[in-house]
Amino acid sequence: MAFETPILITNFKAYEEAIGAKAVELAKIHERVANELGVNVAIVGMTLDLEMLAAAVSIPVLAQHMDGVSYGPYTGLVPVDIARSMGIDGSMLNHSERRLSDAQIVAALENMKRLNMMSIVCAENEEEGVRYAAMGADFIAIEIPELIGGNVSVSQARPEVIQRAVAAIGKGKVLVGAGIKTGEDVRKALELGATGVLLSSGVVKAKDPMAALRDLCSGLKA
Ligand code: G3P
Repeated sequence: MAFETPILITNFKAYEEAIGAKAVELAKIHERVANELGVNVAIVGMTLDLEMLAAAVSIPVLAQHMDGVSYGPYTGLVPVDIARSMGIDGSMLNHSERRLSDAQIVAALENMKRLNMMSIVCAENEEEGVRYAAMGADFIAIEIPELIGGNVSVSQARPEVIQRAVAAIGKGKVLVGAGIKTGEDVRKALELGATGVLLSSGVVKAKDPMAALRDLCSGLKA
């Protein structure tokens, strides 16, 4: 499958506000705002909620992590084939809160390609991004770890990082995240060449997630 872009992607992480029944409610808010505004939105759910989320909404549902294995004698892993059979569209890999070795990333990407699943490999800098793009990731998400969860967005604080990553990796492949809280942050990221944004606390921790999401999504519109 392929994403339509530009796209806004919300990672539910393991925040209490975005687990279980609350995750379904939040997923439906994402679906509603995507339809209302006519923009592309996807969600990244916590592993234990994925099947329920995929059944609840028609927007793309991604995993936070997957392992490059199929069915078999594996304990505690997230096998790609099982996620696929549950209707999961793809996965993030190597988030800075769940780092992987290059070999693990390659194995996951190979298996995801086999099943036509969308892949987003997170990178902490441009050099990593170039390396992961060469491994065949569909998208590279550049996230500067020290800005994650804060109120200063990468688009404001480190615009040059976005520009350099887009120049090195190519247009249409780079997502950016960390500290993105407003529609203006999203607009700026796209102006700098990103093809989408990855965010979490700006929606999940917002007092009014629907209002926050509407504002954020307004930044996707030209
Ligand atoms: O996966 C997205 C995330 O790491 C960014 O988090 O809270 O800074 O939007 P946040």
